[in-house]
Amino acid sequence: MRTLTVPAIRARKVRDGGDPLVMVTAYDAPGARQAHAAGVDLILVGDSLAMVVLGYDDTLAVTVDDMAHHTGAVRRGLANSTAEGPRPLVVGDLPWMSYHTAVDDAVRNAAALVRAGAQAVKLEGGRKRLPVVEAIVDAEIPVMGHIGLTPQSVHALGGFKVQGRQHDAALALRDEAKALAAAGCFAIVLEGVPDEVARLVTEAVEVPTIGIGAGRDCDGQVLVYHDVLGIEDRVAPKFVRRYADVGAVAVEALAAFAADVRSRRFPDDDESYHLSAEVSESLALYGSPAQH
Ligand code: KIV
Repeated sequence: MRTLTVPAIRARKVRDGGDPLVMVTAYDAPGARQAHAAGVDLILVGDSLAMVVLGYDDTLAVTVDDMAHHTGAVRRGLANSTAEGPRPLVVGDLPWMSYHTAVDDAVRNAAALVRAGAQAVKLEGGRKRLPVVEAIVDAEIPVMGHIGLTPQSVHALGGFKVQGRQHDAALALRDEAKALAAAGCFAIVLEGVPDEVARLVTEAVEVPTIGIGAGRDCDGQVLVYHDVLGIEDRVAPKFVRRYADVGAVAVEALAAFAADVRSRRFPDDDESYHLSAEVSESLALYGSPAQH
Protein backbone atom coordinates (compact mmCIF):
# COMPACT_ATOMS: atom_id res chain seq x y z
CA MET A 1 0.00 0.00 0.00
CA ARG A 2 1.13 3.52 -0.84
CA THR A 3 2.52 5.88 1.84
CA LEU A 4 2.28 9.64 1.48
CA THR A 5 5.75 10.78 0.57
CA VAL A 6 7.83 13.73 1.67
CA PRO A 7 7.77 15.33 -1.83
CA ALA A 8 3.97 14.96 -1.92
CA ILE A 9 3.69 16.66 1.47
CA ARG A 10 6.15 19.39 0.50
CA ALA A 11 4.00 20.22 -2.54
CA ARG A 12 0.82 20.73 -0.48
CA LYS A 13 0.63 24.53 -0.31
CA VAL A 14 -2.98 25.66 0.01
CA ARG A 15 -2.29 28.66 -2.23
CA ASP A 16 -1.30 26.23 -5.00
CA GLY A 17 -4.66 24.49 -4.73
CA GLY A 18 -3.66 21.77 -2.21
CA ASP A 19 -6.03 20.52 0.49
CA PRO A 20 -4.93 21.48 4.01
CA LEU A 21 -2.64 18.86 5.53
CA VAL A 22 -3.91 16.88 8.51
CA MET A 23 -1.37 15.76 11.10
CA VAL A 24 -2.16 14.06 14.38
CA THR A 25 0.12 12.65 17.03
CA ALA A 26 0.15 8.94 17.83
CA TYR A 27 2.34 6.94 20.15
CA ASP A 28 1.32 3.32 19.67
CA ALA A 29 0.07 0.78 17.15
CA PRO A 30 -3.70 1.15 17.71
CA GLY A 31 -3.44 4.96 17.55
CA ALA A 32 -1.52 4.69 14.28
CA ARG A 33 -4.11 2.36 12.75
CA GLN A 34 -6.93 4.69 13.81
CA ALA A 35 -5.14 7.66 12.26
CA HIS A 36 -4.71 5.70 9.01
CA ALA A 37 -8.37 4.63 9.01
CA ALA A 38 -9.35 8.28 9.58
CA GLY A 39 -7.34 9.33 6.51
CA VAL A 40 -4.81 11.67 8.14
CA ASP A 41 -1.79 12.69 6.06
CA LEU A 42 0.96 12.63 8.69
CA ILE A 43 1.47 11.00 12.07
CA LEU A 44 3.76 12.82 14.44
CA VAL A 45 5.25 10.65 17.15
CA GLY A 46 5.54 13.77 19.26
CA ASP A 47 7.58 14.33 22.37
CA SER A 48 4.20 15.28 23.86
CA LEU A 49 4.51 11.56 24.65
CA ALA A 50 6.12 12.81 27.87
CA MET A 51 2.97 14.62 28.98
CA VAL A 52 0.00 12.74 27.54
CA VAL A 53 1.31 9.18 27.89
CA LEU A 54 4.09 9.20 30.48
CA GLY A 55 2.62 11.72 32.92
CA TYR A 56 5.37 14.37 33.01
CA ASP A 57 4.62 18.11 33.24
CA ASP A 58 6.64 19.06 30.16
CA THR A 59 8.37 17.39 27.23
CA LEU A 60 11.92 17.54 28.60
CA ALA A 61 11.94 14.11 30.23
CA VAL A 62 11.78 11.90 27.15
CA THR A 63 14.89 10.42 25.53
CA VAL A 64 15.80 9.19 22.06
CA ASP A 65 15.22 5.63 23.33
CA ASP A 66 11.70 6.55 24.47
CA MET A 67 10.94 8.18 21.13
CA ALA A 68 12.37 5.25 19.17
CA HIS A 69 10.33 2.78 21.23
CA HIS A 70 7.06 4.57 20.39
CA THR A 71 8.04 5.34 16.79
CA GLY A 72 8.55 1.61 16.23
CA ALA A 73 5.12 0.85 17.67
CA VAL A 74 3.48 3.40 15.36
CA ARG A 75 5.25 2.09 12.27
CA ARG A 76 4.39 -1.53 13.10
CA GLY A 77 0.78 -0.49 13.65
CA LEU A 78 0.67 1.04 10.19
CA ALA A 79 2.31 -2.02 8.65
CA ASN A 80 -0.58 -4.12 9.99
CA SER A 81 -3.28 -1.61 9.14
CA THR A 82 -6.05 -2.92 6.92
CA ALA A 83 -7.52 0.54 6.29
CA GLU A 84 -7.87 1.78 2.72
CA GLY A 85 -6.00 4.77 1.38
CA PRO A 86 -2.37 5.84 1.49
CA ARG A 87 -0.57 5.36 4.76
CA PRO A 88 0.31 8.55 6.65
CA LEU A 89 3.94 9.66 6.70
CA VAL A 90 5.53 8.96 10.10
CA VAL A 91 7.48 11.87 11.60
CA GLY A 92 9.59 11.18 14.70
CA ASP A 93 10.14 14.06 17.11
CA LEU A 94 13.74 14.60 18.16
CA PRO A 95 13.62 15.13 21.92
CA TRP A 96 15.37 17.83 23.92
CA MET A 97 19.17 17.44 24.06
CA SER A 98 19.24 15.00 21.15
CA TYR A 99 20.31 17.73 18.70
CA HIS A 100 21.66 20.48 20.95
CA THR A 101 25.16 19.28 21.75
CA ALA A 102 26.85 18.45 18.44
CA VAL A 103 25.82 18.10 14.81
CA ASP A 104 27.13 14.51 14.65
CA ASP A 105 25.01 13.52 17.64
CA ALA A 106 21.98 15.07 15.98
CA VAL A 107 22.49 13.05 12.79
CA ARG A 108 23.02 9.86 14.79
CA ASN A 109 19.88 10.48 16.84
CA ALA A 110 17.83 11.27 13.73
CA ALA A 111 19.10 8.00 12.23
CA ALA A 112 18.02 6.13 15.38
CA LEU A 113 14.46 7.38 14.86
CA VAL A 114 14.57 6.42 11.18
CA ARG A 115 15.85 2.95 12.06
CA ALA A 116 12.93 2.67 14.51
CA GLY A 117 10.44 3.51 11.76
CA ALA A 118 10.31 7.28 11.21
CA GLN A 119 10.29 8.54 7.62
CA ALA A 120 11.22 12.08 8.69
CA VAL A 121 12.18 13.85 11.91
CA LYS A 122 11.03 17.08 13.51
CA LEU A 123 13.12 19.46 15.57
CA GLU A 124 12.44 22.76 17.32
CA GLY A 125 14.10 26.11 16.75
CA GLY A 126 15.02 28.56 14.02
CA ARG A 127 18.30 30.02 12.86
CA LYS A 128 20.50 28.44 15.49
CA ARG A 129 19.39 24.98 14.29
CA LEU A 130 20.35 25.55 10.66
CA PRO A 131 23.65 23.58 10.77
CA VAL A 132 21.83 20.64 12.34
CA VAL A 133 18.99 20.78 9.81
CA GLU A 134 21.49 20.89 6.94
CA ALA A 135 23.48 17.95 8.32
CA ILE A 136 20.42 15.77 8.85
CA VAL A 137 19.05 16.61 5.40
CA ASP A 138 22.53 15.83 4.04
CA ALA A 139 22.21 12.38 5.58
CA GLU A 140 19.06 11.94 3.42
CA ILE A 141 16.70 12.29 6.36
CA PRO A 142 13.81 14.70 5.73
CA VAL A 143 13.39 17.36 8.45
CA MET A 144 10.27 19.17 9.62
CA GLY A 145 10.92 22.48 11.40
CA HIS A 146 9.01 23.78 14.42
CA ILE A 147 9.00 27.45 15.49
CA GLY A 148 6.94 29.84 17.60
CA LEU A 149 6.07 28.35 20.96
CA THR A 150 8.65 25.59 21.14
CA PRO A 151 7.82 23.47 24.21
CA GLN A 152 11.41 22.23 24.65
CA SER A 153 12.30 25.88 25.45
CA VAL A 154 9.65 26.15 28.17
CA HIS A 155 12.13 27.40 30.79
CA ALA A 156 13.89 29.81 28.44
CA LEU A 157 10.54 31.22 27.25
CA GLY A 158 9.26 31.52 30.82
CA GLY A 159 6.30 29.17 30.25
CA PHE A 160 4.02 28.03 27.44
CA LYS A 161 3.42 31.50 26.01
CA VAL A 162 2.16 32.71 22.64
CA GLN A 163 5.14 33.96 20.56
CA GLY A 164 5.55 36.64 17.90
CA ARG A 165 3.11 39.16 19.36
CA GLN A 166 5.35 42.19 18.67
CA HIS A 167 6.30 43.61 15.27
CA ASP A 168 9.97 42.59 15.38
CA ALA A 169 9.22 39.16 16.84
CA ALA A 170 6.68 38.50 14.07
CA LEU A 171 9.20 39.44 11.38
CA ALA A 172 11.87 37.32 13.10
CA LEU A 173 9.56 34.29 12.94
CA ARG A 174 8.97 34.91 9.23
CA ASP A 175 12.73 35.09 8.65
CA GLU A 176 13.41 31.97 10.71
CA ALA A 177 10.84 30.06 8.65
CA LYS A 178 12.46 31.23 5.41
CA ALA A 179 15.88 30.17 6.68
CA LEU A 180 14.58 26.72 7.73
CA ALA A 181 12.96 26.19 4.34
CA ALA A 182 16.18 27.27 2.60
CA ALA A 183 18.13 24.81 4.77
CA GLY A 184 15.93 21.99 3.49
CA CYS A 185 12.94 21.60 5.84
CA PHE A 186 10.04 20.07 3.91
CA ALA A 187 7.38 21.55 6.22
CA ILE A 188 7.30 23.77 9.30
CA VAL A 189 5.13 23.51 12.40
CA LEU A 190 3.98 26.90 13.68
CA GLU A 191 2.91 26.65 17.30
CA GLY A 192 1.29 29.28 19.51
CA VAL A 193 1.47 32.36 17.30
CA PRO A 194 -1.20 34.93 16.40
CA ASP A 195 -3.05 34.02 13.21
CA GLU A 196 -1.80 37.17 11.44
CA VAL A 197 1.77 36.01 12.06
CA ALA A 198 1.00 32.50 10.84
CA ARG A 199 -0.43 34.04 7.65
CA LEU A 200 2.68 36.19 7.18
CA VAL A 201 4.94 33.16 7.59
CA THR A 202 2.77 30.90 5.42
CA GLU A 203 2.82 33.45 2.60
CA ALA A 204 6.59 33.87 2.90
CA VAL A 205 7.65 30.22 2.52
CA GLU A 206 7.41 27.70 -0.31
CA VAL A 207 6.96 24.73 2.03
CA PRO A 208 3.73 24.00 3.90
CA THR A 209 3.17 25.36 7.38
CA ILE A 210 1.30 23.16 9.85
CA GLY A 211 -0.33 25.09 12.67
CA ILE A 212 -1.21 24.33 16.26
CA GLY A 213 -2.65 27.36 18.02
CA ALA A 214 -1.75 29.38 14.93
CA GLY A 215 -5.13 30.11 13.34
CA ARG A 216 -6.71 28.86 10.16
CA ASP A 217 -4.35 30.26 7.53
CA CYS A 218 -1.64 27.62 7.77
CA ASP A 219 -1.30 24.93 5.09
CA GLY A 220 -2.33 22.30 7.60
CA GLN A 221 -3.23 21.67 11.22
CA VAL A 222 -1.92 19.33 13.90
CA LEU A 223 -3.47 18.32 17.21
CA VAL A 224 -2.47 15.88 19.90
CA TYR A 225 -4.37 12.55 19.76
CA HIS A 226 -5.35 12.66 23.44
CA ASP A 227 -6.73 16.20 23.03
CA VAL A 228 -8.78 15.40 19.90
CA LEU A 229 -10.29 12.35 21.58
CA GLY A 230 -10.81 13.86 25.03
CA ILE A 231 -8.48 11.43 26.78
CA GLU A 232 -6.17 14.08 28.29
CA ASP A 233 -7.88 15.45 31.39
CA ARG A 234 -5.59 18.40 32.11
CA VAL A 235 -7.00 21.84 31.22
CA ALA A 236 -6.67 22.20 27.46
CA PRO A 237 -5.36 25.34 25.74
CA LYS A 238 -7.98 27.31 23.79
CA PHE A 239 -6.81 26.03 20.41
CA VAL A 240 -7.80 22.44 21.28
CA ARG A 241 -11.08 21.22 19.84
CA ARG A 242 -12.30 17.99 21.41
CA TYR A 243 -14.10 15.73 18.96
CA ALA A 244 -15.02 13.01 21.45
CA ASP A 245 -15.07 12.23 25.16
CA VAL A 246 -13.20 8.94 25.02
CA GLY A 247 -11.88 9.48 28.57
CA ALA A 248 -15.43 9.46 29.97
CA VAL A 249 -16.42 6.45 27.83
CA ALA A 250 -13.35 4.60 29.12
CA VAL A 251 -14.17 5.33 32.79
CA GLU A 252 -17.78 4.21 32.23
CA ALA A 253 -16.65 0.95 30.61
CA LEU A 254 -14.07 0.20 33.32
CA ALA A 255 -16.63 0.91 36.07
CA ALA A 256 -19.10 -1.47 34.37
CA PHE A 257 -16.39 -4.16 34.26
CA ALA A 258 -15.59 -3.63 37.95
CA ALA A 259 -19.28 -3.85 38.87
CA ASP A 260 -19.73 -7.07 36.84
CA VAL A 261 -16.69 -8.69 38.50
CA ARG A 262 -17.86 -7.75 41.99
CA SER A 263 -21.39 -9.00 41.38
CA ARG A 264 -20.03 -12.19 39.69
CA ARG A 265 -21.77 -11.31 36.40
CA PHE A 266 -18.38 -11.53 34.63
CA PRO A 267 -17.34 -13.90 33.15
CA ASP A 268 -20.43 -15.83 32.05
CA ASP A 269 -20.55 -19.33 30.59
CA ASP A 270 -19.93 -18.16 27.02
CA GLU A 271 -16.85 -16.27 28.15
CA SER A 272 -15.35 -19.37 29.82
CA TYR A 273 -13.61 -22.47 28.44
CA HIS A 274 -15.18 -25.86 29.13
CA LEU A 275 -13.95 -29.44 29.33
CA SER A 276 -15.55 -32.22 27.35
CA ALA A 277 -18.23 -34.07 29.37
CA GLU A 278 -15.95 -37.10 29.53
CA VAL A 279 -12.96 -35.28 31.02
CA SER A 280 -15.21 -33.29 33.28
CA GLU A 281 -16.76 -36.47 34.69
CA SER A 282 -13.38 -38.10 35.19
CA LEU A 283 -12.16 -35.06 37.12
CA ALA A 284 -15.30 -35.04 39.24
CA LEU A 285 -13.80 -38.02 41.01
CA TYR A 286 -11.30 -35.56 42.47
CA GLY A 287 -14.09 -33.24 43.54
CA SER A 288 -13.57 -30.33 41.18
CA PRO A 289 -15.02 -29.28 37.76
CA ALA A 290 -18.25 -31.26 37.65
CA GLN A 291 -19.27 -29.73 40.98
CA HIS A 292 -19.62 -26.33 39.33
O1 KIV B 1 5.09 16.77 20.45
C1 KIV B 1 4.09 17.23 19.89
O2 KIV B 1 2.97 16.75 20.06
C2 KIV B 1 4.27 18.37 19.01
C3 KIV B 1 3.05 18.97 18.40
C4 KIV B 1 2.29 19.72 19.39
C5 KIV B 1 3.39 19.80 17.21
O3 KIV B 1 5.38 18.79 18.81
